[in-house]
Amino acid sequence: GLSTTIAGVKFPGCFMNAAGALCVTRDELLALGRSKAGAIVTKSMTMEPRHGNPEPRYYGFPGGSINSMGLPNLGYRAYADLIPELKRCGKPVIASVAGLCEDDFPTIAEAINAAQPDLIEVNLSCPNIPGKPQIGYDAEASERLLKRVRRVITVPMGVKLPPYFDPAHHDAMGKVIGRCDVDFLNLINSVGNGLVVDPEREAVVIKPKGGFGGLGGTLIKPVALANVRAFYKIFQGRIPIIGTGGIVDGVDAFEHFLCGASAVQIGTVLVEEGLEVFGRLETELAALLEKKGYRAIEDCRGKLKEL
Ligand code: DHB
Repeated sequence: GLSTTIAGVKFPGCFMNAAGALCVTRDELLALGRSKAGAIVTKSMTMEPRHGNPEPRYYGFPGGSINSMGLPNLGYRAYADLIPELKRCGKPVIASVAGLCEDDFPTIAEAINAAQPDLIEVNLSCPNIPGKPQIGYDAEASERLLKRVRRVITVPMGVKLPPYFDPAHHDAMGKVIGRCDVDFLNLINSVGNGLVVDPEREAVVIKPKGGFGGLGGTLIKPVALANVRAFYKIFQGRIPIIGTGGIVDGVDAFEHFLCGASAVQIGTVLVEEGLEVFGRLETELAALLEKKGYRAIEDCRGKLKEL
């Protein structure tokens, strides 16, 4: 079957939404609960509710997507209140915890932990204070923050990381993760600060930040696979990994599993196709595993061959 386990939590399916995709409002989260998604992942939350950036703030194109949403969300209190209802959907609930500054994270994490989601994802790769790099690109800040949130989180704690492009950065963040009692990793967040140009209009395609935004979809798949593989090797498979980035079909998911993922999250193609994408991906992956003679995800996980 396509069930999977992450940090001791059983998931009825290996496909779920990526944080940010169709998961801001109560209606969206309950719709994920009724869908074939294997879990419900919340939008990354802040202290106060936010409308987010001016529109257009998301743009899909054939190779992927670009967005600069600006953390539109209901605020952590609303998500804490919603978690019991979401859990009654009968699949794991993953709360994505963020913040506008370092001190916000432990406050939110403690209150959300009290609502008992099945897992918490700490988002170290969300848009931050202008002039400062995102926390995930600052190893010292990452370690400080993870040690603070770990103290208040009793459910399995995961870390969502940005993509890294140099093995020295994988090693440095691997050391941080290894010191912070992290139960799972989610790799990767969007490839930051790309720029998509519409040559016809001679203009950018999203309004915030002069058109700069996080890239997702097909075009980032090799970056995502590299990060899944790098961290799978650093931890010799002993920290479970959720693979996120560039999954459009069942073959893409299989590639993530070969690199070491135990489950996968869907962003761009969920926004583009809607909730029906989960049924399609399940059908495609099931057919591929059957054809290849794999009976479960764990039978192919990490088994990528090197030449
Ligand atoms: C947003 C984008 C991200 O990549 C992220 O991790 C969190 C929030 C946003 O713009 O809303």
